[in-house]
Amino acid sequence: MKTISLVCEKGGVGKSMLAGELRYYFERHNLACSLYGLDAQYRSASHTVPDPDVVVVDTPGRFDVKLKGVIERSDVVVIPVRPTPSDAEPFLRTVDLVSSITDVPIVVCVNGMNTFKMATSFMDWLSKQDIGDETVCVPQSEAIVQALGEERSVYGHDRLGHATDALETLGDTVSDLAGISVTVGVW
Ligand SMILES: Nc1ncnc2c1ncn2[C@@H]1O[C@H](COP(=O)(O)OP(=O)(O)OP(=O)(O)O)[C@@H](O)[C@H]1O
Ligand SMILES: [Mg+2]
Repeated sequence: MKTISLVCEKGGVGKSMLAGELRYYFERHNLACSLYGLDAQYRSASHTVPDPDVVVVDTPGRFDVKLKGVIERSDVVVIPVRPTPSDAEPFLRTVDLVSSITDVPIVVCVNGMNTFKMATSFMDWLSKQDIGDETVCVPQSEAIVQALGEERSVYGHDRLGHATDALETLGDTVSDLAGISVTVGVW
């Protein structure tokens, strides 16, 4: 069993949305996946299955002993960040915190990517930081908003869209780093 956690001390960066999408990703690749939501939001409501291949843990933006335990047990930590200057500081604090607890792979997920200058400047800054093992960008996307409203996957809502491609890349990247073997070509 592999454990993937989503961690960032800033709120609204997409931890719960991405945790839900990772669960859908593993399910459509025929893996038994449990999702544990450690915050109270509806989308992160826990969904448990017996004997899971993968456990995805959505965490709150608060550091406590429970979060430390989750990070210690993770095989990959995904740190979502919005591409804005005000996200840089909490993001760096989260990276330092995670790195002080574990040396497992970190995936930086730049969530809400767009074509504004603020986002491209953020990517320039990030490329100079040497943070994480992989970086995956997920676009700012109406399909993501709609899928959340419909309580289904972005893949189910808009199979051929850019957001679906990006979320598939995130799942592939996490699987690769965690050593999870996914069935290629099922989607
Ligand atoms: N890529 C995206 N495109 C469009 N909307 C998005 C995207 N990512 C997240 N959102 C929106 O941002 C909101 C906040 O995301 P989410 O609840 O996943 O953040 P969070 O990090 O879990 O926040 P918290 O720390 O408060 O739990 C979502 O309800 C969703 O509507
Ligand atoms: Mg949340």
